[in-house]
Amino acid sequence: MVCTACIPPTCAPPVRRLKPPPADRRLRPLHLLPLLQPIRADFLHSFSIHELLVLLPPPCRHPLPQLHHTDTGKEAVGVVSAVGPGVTSFKVGDVVGYADNPMGSYAEEQIIPASVAVPIPHAIDYITAASVLMKGMTAYIPVRQAFKVQRGHTVLVHAAAGGVGSLLCQWANALGATVIGTVSTEEKVGQATQDGCQHVIVYTKEDFVTRVVEITSGGGVHVVYDAVGKDTFQGSLACLMLRGCMISYGQSSGSRPDPVRLSDLAPKSLILGRPGLMHYTTNRDELLQAAGEVFACIMSGVLQVRANHVYLLSEAARAHKDLEARRTSGSIVLIPDSQRL
Ligand SMILES: NC(=O)c1ccc[n+]([C@@H]2O[C@H](COP(=O)([O-])OP(=O)(O)OC[C@H]3O[C@@H](n4cnc5c(N)ncnc54)[C@H](OP(=O)(O)O)[C@@H]3O)[C@@H](O)[C@H]2O)c1
Repeated sequence: MVCTACIPPTCAPPVRRLKPPPADRRLRPLHLLPLLQPIRADFLHSFSIHELLVLLPPPCRHPLPQLHHTDTGKEAVGVVSAVGPGVTSFKVGDVVGYADNPMGSYAEEQIIPASVAVPIPHAIDYITAASVLMKGMTAYIPVRQAFKVQRGHTVLVHAAAGGVGSLLCQWANALGATVIGTVSTEEKVGQATQDGCQHVIVYTKEDFVTRVVEITSGGGVHVVYDAVGKDTFQGSLACLMLRGCMISYGQSSGSRPDPVRLSDLAPKSLILGRPGLMHYTTNRDELLQAAGEVFACIMSGVLQVRANHVYLLSEAARAHKDLEARRTSGSIVLIPDSQRL
């Protein structure tokens, strides 16, 4: 995706132009590129499966190729190729990313408001930036805002080898916590261990509540970071210590039927939070603070970004199927076909 223009927020909503780039702008392989060549990378993440596709009428279970013309995808990195009138904070050639809004990043080109564009530091390559902006800021919220992890905490991270999960484990570990991670397959255990999990539970084979009770000698954990949702929600509450904190930030397996009964929290005086990125990036200062912490962690080596899967944009449906079949780990990046390596 290229940001064709950064327009003031008061202007028209985002518009995508899907014509291929001129031949002279097609790119050489990524590793040969100087940093500011317009390589273009789109995010893929599970919002698209779990919160968008379910809204589409059947029988279109994986209608992504047609969705190039609709509002799919909500995070991207690109090079600014034009700026709107009055925009002074960015210029043509700047590398920027955005996360969460506007929709429509499954496209070759996109127009976005300047107010959501985040400058990508020169030290961070495009694929890494495209892999981490949204996921990194999503990890920043639980660990640094909703429940601030401190040395000595014990933390349970579900889907520890997922895109956000991988970053959460690394970040909590770096902050001095004991990290327990859950994963669905043996293949994901190694990555979770490398990412700082002292204990990894294969929750498709073992009862994770029983294992957490064993690991914590019955004490439970200070906090659970849970984006799996329906399949883990009740068990997560059971893993918490007295006055523990449940941070539910997603629902990859589906939502638990709402409302959550207040009485579920009472036996241990539990705290339940459901943070969303948009509410922690309500203004430019908060947005740049969140992105800045993520970039600083990458540049200092606290966070290793796992861009484990790169697909062409035309393969988006396959990428979604792999994600849904739990065949992926770390981040997934879509690259427009004109950027084929
Ligand atoms: N609150 C926010 O503002 C915010 C922002 C962005 C994303 N999110 C949420 O954060 C969550 C993680 O995002 P992500 O980008 O890290 O996704 P991801 O890389 O796809 O990770 C999701 C993981 O969930 C696990 N999972 C469990 N049940 C699943 C199922 N039925 N289908 C697919 N995966 C399942 C899988 O790990 P295992 O195979 O190991 O179980 C998978 O790797 C998502 O729920 C997303 O909606 C929230």
